[in-house]
Amino acid sequence: MQMNINGKPVTLEADGDMPLLWALRDVIGLTGTKYGCGAGLCGACTVHLDGAPVRACQTPVADVGTAKITTIEGLSATDLGRKLQAAWAALDVPQCGYCQGGQLMAAAALLRDTPKPSDDDIDAAMAGNLCRCGTYTRIRAAIKQVAG
Ligand code: FES
Repeated sequence: MQMNINGKPVTLEADGDMPLLWALRDVIGLTGTKYGCGAGLCGACTVHLDGAPVRACQTPVADVGTAKITTIEGLSATDLGRKLQAAWAALDVPQCGYCQGGQLMAAAALLRDTPKPSDDDIDAAMAGNLCRCGTYTRIRAAIKQVAG
């Protein structure tokens, strides 16, 4: 099937029920998107479909259709992605780092829709992205730094 991933056309050879997470990681080789729970609970696998955050572990590739897929690799090549990563580095947000790709994808979707988010906006947008290291306060600070 034909997909658009990070702005490039990609031909995917996979069963339609394969989760997008495995297609990205194992078939296409984009390993920045992480497997956390595999059950839609942690947000580590967050990617964007047409700019909206989705859980790649819960999204069969057949459901993607013509939506444009953006992964953390693609976000990193955007102005917003670079600003977010700079803030993440400046504020030493990551601890183990495993969930942070998903955190950045959720943060990017928030800031695209709501450039000046309130604390409540941030909490609501980020609530589905879990961090075992408890970096939540630094994530909030970094989002605010980017929001300016
Ligand atoms: Fe998809 Fe946890 S790996 S939500």
